[in-house]
Amino acid sequence: MFDPHKIREDFPILKRKINNYTLIYFDNAASSQKPRQVIEAIKDFYENHNSNVHRAVHTLSQEASELYERAHDEVADFIHADGMEEIIFVRGTTEAINLVAYSWGLRNLKKGDEVIVSLMEHHSNIVPWEILSKLNGFNIKYVGVSDDGTLNYEAYEELISEKTKIVCFSHVSNFSGVINDVKRIAKIAHDHGALILIDGAQSVPHLPTHVKDLDVDFLAFSGHKMLGPTGIGVLYGKCEILEKMEPFQGGGEMIREVLFDSITKRCTITWNDLPWKFEAGTPNICDGIGLMEAVRYLRRLGMENVQAHEYTLTEYAMKHMLECQKIEIYGPEDASAKCGIIPFNVEGFSSHDVALLLDNYGIMVRSGFHCTQPLHAIFKLKSSARASFYIYNTREEIDSFIEVLKEIE
Ligand SMILES: Cc1ncc(COP(=O)(O)O)c(C=O)c1O
Repeated sequence: MFDPHKIREDFPILKRKINNYTLIYFDNAASSQKPRQVIEAIKDFYENHNSNVHRAVHTLSQEASELYERAHDEVADFIHADGMEEIIFVRGTTEAINLVAYSWGLRNLKKGDEVIVSLMEHHSNIVPWEILSKLNGFNIKYVGVSDDGTLNYEAYEELISEKTKIVCFSHVSNFSGVINDVKRIAKIAHDHGALILIDGAQSVPHLPTHVKDLDVDFLAFSGHKMLGPTGIGVLYGKCEILEKMEPFQGGGEMIREVLFDSITKRCTITWNDLPWKFEAGTPNICDGIGLMEAVRYLRRLGMENVQAHEYTLTEYAMKHMLECQKIEIYGPEDASAKCGIIPFNVEGFSSHDVALLLDNYGIMVRSGFHCTQPLHAIFKLKSSARASFYIYNTREEIDSFIEVLKEIE
């Protein structure tokens, strides 16, 4: 039985009082809270197993390596990848997308080529492509967003051509929560020989993810948005694509051999196996193990149950928010078309004012443009407030939120 009240007992921070009110945390799209199981896994690593990985034959290094590799395996299982070869640990979604841009894009995108990006994207799926296009001279074509916040799917058919090499878009928007039809875009892209890169920062923590069923070439996501620690995230890539790619960064761990040739006076280098070829230097071992614990926690709950719970909360919250005269909500009206994210404004107040007023009652929401300035421009907005839910949020918390909103207006 999925019981958010029981789940809450695992999250020490939810007992905190802020301004004499029990904390209501509705900023989950920015970063989730951490259960004690994750906090304890991190503590246990540093207290009992701390060592570098893949470096030494001693017991601690063997234990750390075994845990770190298992973390890759369990993340692979969580998203139904073929195995840990397809799972590269990075700092987060941003680094994962940059890895693809520089390792794959730098060598595969040239003048005359095209990349399709959506205007729904977080800046981290726009800026790397803009930077790279200035270096390599390829063109970027942007797909627009309809009034209800959904992607303009027809535009993909119109913009795609044999020149298109990669199509980049998010599975779930971090502004509106809208869930995009990955399979539909994957088919259009693959029919034209292009790859797809999915920003899964807002989908992997909230929906069941099956990379093979979705036919994703690259998927980027962040540990800290799915109960894990900060500083760890994942790039999934299809094995056959990763095999052909050159490394992202050079250093230890990612090489098998560095041989100095006394005749050419140069070093010849062979790369390590996947995924280590893409994990240069000492990796973030402990947080990788923390992420494994987070994935275990979510698997115990069942991702279908996580999605169903967030749907119930979102539908309930939207219904009551719409009863308020001065509140405008953006994105799809149907809660089943989205994950648990509600962007809104209160007439006569800036989004920061709304967030500060809610903070007076211990309620945390995000305000600003949420790293989606092009999307805010489409909605003719400078900023918005955003409530976003997760496994430990309850209807009672939404009731308190609505009560304060009614007071504000
Ligand atoms: C959709 C989306 N993409 C990318 C990111 C960037 O994630 P990170 O800062 O963990 O790299 C975020 C973070 O808010 C996001 O919501």
